Amino acid sequence: MKVEFYKHNIGQQDIDNAVEVLNSLFLTTGEVANQFEDTFSRYLGCRHTVGVTSCTAALHLSLLACGIGPGDEVITTPMTFIATANAVLYTGAKPVFVDVEPETGNIKADLIEDAATSRTKAILPVHLYGQMCDMRKIREIADKHHLTVIEDAAHAIEASRDGIRPGQLCDAACFSFYATKNITSGEGGAISTNSEEIAEKLKKLRLHGMSKGAAERYSKRYEHWDMEMLGWKYNMSNIQAALLLNQLENIEKRWHRREQICQMYEEAFKEDSGVTCLKVLPNSKSARHVFTILVPPPKRDSILGQLQERGIGVAVNFRAIHLLTFYRQTFGYKRGMYPIAEKIGDSTITLPLYPKLSNEEVQYVIKVVKDVTTS
Ligand SMILES: Cc1ncc(COP(=O)(O)O)c(C=O)c1O
Repeated sequence: MKVEFYKHNIGQQDIDNAVEVLNSLFLTTGEVANQFEDTFSRYLGCRHTVGVTSCTAALHLSLLACGIGPGDEVITTPMTFIATANAVLYTGAKPVFVDVEPETGNIKADLIEDAATSRTKAILPVHLYGQMCDMRKIREIADKHHLTVIEDAAHAIEASRDGIRPGQLCDAACFSFYATKNITSGEGGAISTNSEEIAEKLKKLRLHGMSKGAAERYSKRYEHWDMEMLGWKYNMSNIQAALLLNQLENIEKRWHRREQICQMYEEAFKEDSGVTCLKVLPNSKSARHVFTILVPPPKRDSILGQLQERGIGVAVNFRAIHLLTFYRQTFGYKRGMYPIAEKIGDSTITLPLYPKLSNEEVQYVIKVVKDVTTS
């Protein structure tokens, strides 16, 4: 049997929506992008959303919009995709890592204050695999030290914790619509915020710092635009937005299927001493973006290979960032500095998880994982 690592859910309705845009006059950021932004804001319970080309762009612009720049420090986690820390570097600021919780892989909020210095300007928590960090505690620390909070919610569109959704206790929350994300336009991203000031700044920053977007320039009587600040070219197109609208409508239905699959995995690996699963905490709804198991580090790479040989698509999310060559060479990070993140990074294997996965395929993955971890 072959079980793909991921299959997207783009269906006929999404294709029809994209074709409708392709048959229209306006391909770039316009009415359809605005409609997606409004729908996304309503779904999250947030006041504003700004569509961009990726979560990396969302992180970069959010940091800029919050005034982060050279000489500043941003506290984040080493257990994430490199985009999180790289975006901090794009602004000229320095990512400062703190270790994570062993049971969730999320940043350990209790360690944040110890890492804060007079240069610290922001906290950048990542809701790993779909489970939210302790946002109430993080907001409390941020308020005490006058820090900005930007959430990396690339994995966490559907998540909530203690009644809080992404975007509600922060200055800006960043989302990804990359090819394997819970909703996707191939590439894409968004920033949600309750601050009108930040939203207005983000709209300019995503388009070269121009005072008017293409839709405003061409749909009304021509008015000159100005460049008010240095911005980037990160605006979401109508084509991307058209692909996302219907997926957003079906997001909870698809989450339910992923939740079912995760529960099948968790049940199967409960008694198995060779495999550990991270925990979803009480009062927490995980967006169930990826499902990872932890295996003994010396066996991890061999298990990865054996799963692939038996037809199962796998990935590693993630090896701890501070041990990657660039971060070691640039900042002098060494093994031992963030032991829990290192342990997860050395143990983790991501299994297939998507609504199209059949029960039969899930059972096959479970059987093969058990075979190769107990042999
Ligand atoms: C935690 C996290 N943050 C940010 C990103 C970057 O997302 P994008 O590919 O949309 O730039 C990813 C991508 O997978 C991610 O996993």
